[in-house]
Amino acid sequence: MRCALLLLLPAALLAQGGGVPRVSDEALGTQPYDRYERPQACATCHVDIARQHEQAMMSQAYTHHWDEIEYFELAIPHADKEPKVAGVKAGCNGCHAPLAFLAGDIPPKPPKDGTRANESVSCDLCHTVTGFQGDVPHNFNWVTQPGRVKQGPRAGVVSPHHETRENPFLRSADFCGTCHNEKDPWGLFVKSTHLEWKEGPHGKGGIVCQDCHMPPAAGRSARMGSELPDMRQHLFHGAHDLGKLLGVAEVRIHPESREAEPGDTVKLTAVVVNAKAGHKIPSGSAEERLLWLHVEAKDAKGRTYHLPVDRKGFKDEDFTIASEALAYQDIGDIKGIAGFAGLKRDGTYTTMKAGDRIFRLPYLDPKGRMTIAQWNTAAFATDYRLAPLQATSESFTWKLPADAPPGPVTVTATVHYSRLVSSVAEHLKVPAEEWEPVQIGVHTTTFTVLE
Ligand code: HEC
Ligand code: HEC
Ligand code: HEC
Ligand code: HEC
Ligand code: HEC
Repeated sequence: MRCALLLLLPAALLAQGGGVPRVSDEALGTQPYDRYERPQACATCHVDIARQHEQAMMSQAYTHHWDEIEYFELAIPHADKEPKVAGVKAGCNGCHAPLAFLAGDIPPKPPKDGTRANESVSCDLCHTVTGFQGDVPHNFNWVTQPGRVKQGPRAGVVSPHHETRENPFLRSADFCGTCHNEKDPWGLFVKSTHLEWKEGPHGKGGIVCQDCHMPPAAGRSARMGSELPDMRQHLFHGAHDLGKLLGVAEVRIHPESREAEPGDTVKLTAVVVNAKAGHKIPSGSAEERLLWLHVEAKDAKGRTYHLPVDRKGFKDEDFTIASEALAYQDIGDIKGIAGFAGLKRDGTYTTMKAGDRIFRLPYLDPKGRMTIAQWNTAAFATDYRLAPLQATSESFTWKLPADAPPGPVTVTATVHYSRLVSSVAEHLKVPAEEWEPVQIGVHTTTFTVLE
């Protein structure tokens, strides 16, 4: 990477008026808005790509409700009162509203004012990135060189509106990593989708982010462009796309024995697999996502029983077992709410019961309490998420009631996902569509209770 960067230096020097290209925090205020073209300009020719991108979260990274709420109601007030995190007032925008960050328009006006911050992660931002600086892509350390030349994946492409330059960087996972790895003021990687990918089988095997999030299909990239067998679709579908989520955590469950007597102890094992994602699940904003396994049994008379997961005894395990515990007390500190006890750590879901297993990475604030403010994270508890192409077994030991009726017992394991802990969402008035849980996996097994 260092060699590639050296090659990029001369051009970057021209663009930024001397010195090493300024990236990350140093790039603040280095490029006025008008150096970047609006997405509408690109849309006149790149019609399908524009319509796809408009529906993707990256074109709404600044305007989307939850982003607006977290930035304006938590991050800015916190930055204003706590020097340690003061940098996030500008820094959030490096990834969510990069044009505003580069223009030094901090804080940007709220979305309703319709400024260019609203363009979020736009066409011209991505297509004028020439490379990145440093050893590890993170915290918007991309090098930007706005102008007539658009960086693209192919050689010899001709456009009436701009020049094109083939740049393999756009085909690399490092490109995505510049925003999909985030280091917080404590120096922790509080977002590490790219790093998780890199150490997993997809990263090692060379299957990049673009392969799953920008799959190729036959078509044209521009109205007057040539017919391509493999036009890169700008879907960028992720946790906000039901199709992407469904089946992402597969589950199978089996009993140790197919027969039992009333009063016996039955052991069931559920295996949960991340067979679809190229990184852990949840990834990215793991501080606010919830993924859980719920197991219920139904006897021959239709009575239902909830089965709590068996403890494994690992460090910090309590964080991974649903309970009535309170957390997120830092929201009270930030908002100045006197006597704020906290909010339900595991939300308020009808599909979750105490004892369910939660797959998560607990983010801890400087006082050791769980937080959804990734910028206020001073430590992590044990990472108990699903790694790519790996399975996790969970056992459930159940003492059958002495009056269990003879006949079949069906045991159903379901996996659920919620993008934002519901208790936090309700407290901050985030619309339900942002957090309503979805069932993403299910399997049923049976055994028989003998006479
Ligand atoms: C998040 C960054 C990002 C954004 C935003 C983005 N693109 Fe791209 N675009 C890419 C990447 C990466 C590729 C190359 C993918 C590959 O080939 O692996 C690409 C490829 C392309 C291509 C060539 C497609 C091909 O297969 O030949 C065109 C044309 C294009 N983008 C135009 C646009 C336009 C127009 C917009 C806005 C409506 C846009 N892009 C938004 C990252 C982005
Ligand atoms: C007047 C029409 C027009 C406009 C406006 C336009 N483009 Fe293009 N662009 C094209 C054509 C035509 C191609 C070539 C497509 C082909 O032959 O496959 C192209 C190709 C590209 C490529 C692919 C380069 C490669 O290496 O494969 C990128 C990236 C790109 N445009 C980005 C943009 C961006 C970003 C904007 C807005 C800032 C934009 N374009 C505006 C017509 C246009
Ligand atoms: C300039 C920074 C930036 C770059 C570069 C970038 N992203 Fe993103 N990406 C973001 C931000 C910010 C979000 C969060 C959007 C939101 O607020 O929901 C995001 C969200 C996403 C999501 C989640 C969508 C969902 O439905 O939940 C996917 C998938 C994604 N990006 C893929 C990619 C890929 C693939 C690349 C590289 C080709 C890439 N991104 C490059 C900033 C970036
Ligand atoms: C093998 C296919 C595959 C690869 C490779 C892959 N992803 Fe994903 N990605 C998925 C699937 C499936 C999901 C949906 C599960 C989820 O949201 O956790 C997803 C979800 C996401 C999300 C939303 C995560 C969340 O939990 O909020 C982001 C952001 C994302 N991917 C970015 C990336 C980036 C960046 C890379 C490359 C470093 C990448 N992905 C590589 C398949 C893939
Ligand atoms: C290094 C880049 C980067 C920085 C800095 C950053 N974010 Fe993000 N943010 C992302 C990416 C990438 C995602 C998408 C991750 C995913 O889908 O899991 C995201 C997701 C989010 C989400 C969830 C969006 C959703 O729709 O679920 C919120 C809210 C958010 N960020 C707010 C902030 C705030 C507030 C700050 C500053 C304190 C900030 N971000 C700083 C890159 C960044």
